[in-house]
Amino acid sequence: MPSYTVKTFGCQMNVHDSERIEETLRAAGYRASAEPDGADLIVINTCSVREKAEQKLRSLVGTLAPLKASRPDIVIAVAGCVAQQEGEKLLSRMRQVDLVVGPDNIAELPQLVAAVQGGSPPIARTVFDIDEPVFLRAAADPRGVGPTAFVTVMKGCDERCSFCIVPHTRGPERYRASGEVVDEIRRLVDSGVREVTLLGQTVNSYRDPQRTLEAAPLSDVNDADESEFPALLRRIAQAVPGLSRLRYTSPHPRHVTPSLVAAHRELDVLARHVHLPVQSGSNRVLKRMIRRYTKEEYVERAERLMSARPGLTLSTDIIVGFPGETDDDFQQTLELVKSVAFSGLFGFKYSRRPYTPAQKLSDDIPESAKSERLGALFALAEELQREKLAALVGSRQKVLVEGVSKAGSGRVTGRTERNEIVHLADEREISLVGELVEVRIVRAFKHSLEGELSDAERARASSGRPPRRALPIFSGEA
Ligand code: 5AD
Repeated sequence: MPSYTVKTFGCQMNVHDSERIEETLRAAGYRASAEPDGADLIVINTCSVREKAEQKLRSLVGTLAPLKASRPDIVIAVAGCVAQQEGEKLLSRMRQVDLVVGPDNIAELPQLVAAVQGGSPPIARTVFDIDEPVFLRAAADPRGVGPTAFVTVMKGCDERCSFCIVPHTRGPERYRASGEVVDEIRRLVDSGVREVTLLGQTVNSYRDPQRTLEAAPLSDVNDADESEFPALLRRIAQAVPGLSRLRYTSPHPRHVTPSLVAAHRELDVLARHVHLPVQSGSNRVLKRMIRRYTKEEYVERAERLMSARPGLTLSTDIIVGFPGETDDDFQQTLELVKSVAFSGLFGFKYSRRPYTPAQKLSDDIPESAKSERLGALFALAEELQREKLAALVGSRQKVLVEGVSKAGSGRVTGRTERNEIVHLADEREISLVGELVEVRIVRAFKHSLEGELSDAERARASSGRPPRRALPIFSGEA
């Protein structure tokens, strides 16, 4: 039986694509090999949002060169956004690579590998499925299901943020019919999944292709500008009552509509957390980024979300050192971060990308200033996170136990309804994995919490459950 190994860089969308790559290969008779040395096929699933991931690809392919020299029959495939971005150019630049496959061509992987093995010269297959978009469904994993899963609802992006390569690498927006989304979630929940995260590049610009087909009026779409995303959330909540938690990522602030805010108010299943990328706190920079909202509009929407559901927190993405960003612009970003009091923050140094509008601007902020700004941003974010976590000590939280802590303690770990990581004190029960338990928070660490189960809760949660798949998923402080 031929074997494969997949290396993944980048976002959740990419992690999800890697799972689909694995399923496609397993369905074609491959088995997983943990180490590249033993594999017949090595797939590198890349990201090109920031330069670093591309460098990682280059260095990984470099490290595979001796293996390829000693075993020329090994097939090296590059998938994902770098594949889509560079296509055939990758083949001429990296001689070890046999195959380049774009995100929309994953299903063709086994045939492409067979062609290369049959003697075909290296192949680049990077065609968008514009007319008939394919959304690969999660297949049953022979290792069993984990308690959380991703479900894609749309792909591609119609925004034109000037820094971003995604419209180029993932193509225009295409949506999945709501009935298909609901079916997949129902199936996942029936097989033991408790929490689903809906995925899309701008997930809340979702439009339902089925709606046009059925011409069914949706009660909460009362404005031509409204996205149909809130209706999708309602439909899922109604159709799959067994689902414990529903998240989505990443929304664009432009589509945080009144009906989305209302959905957060009304749907208990929605997690009390939204990751809402702001990118900058300066209107001048936001305009140059073509984000199509002002700082004031962002704050207003953020506040509406936070007041829709008590305790709802927001996290965000920020780029520092965008071309022309002054110290004053950056100060405004820090002010915004403080005023919204984000519970989490991903910060990035601006990285000039090919095929983006901002490529024409000179990348004029020195590396040292970018590092300094990123340092200041992280210091502020840590302080905010520490305050938020400390304030939770003594409170009771519902935790979905997701796996065993990587720290080697054997203790189980999960997340609150918001997104805080909670290590369960003294709990080494794998049978708790997949359970939603109520814990008392006893300690706050720098990035996570420690919680205790009451005896009654422990007995309730672990009574007679079959063991689930429990992969180590968290690098923990506990
Ligand atoms: N440079 C730096 N960060 C970027 N991001 C996207 N493009 C770039 C770029 N060219 C960041 C944004 C986005 C996150 C996924 O990556 O903050 O929200």
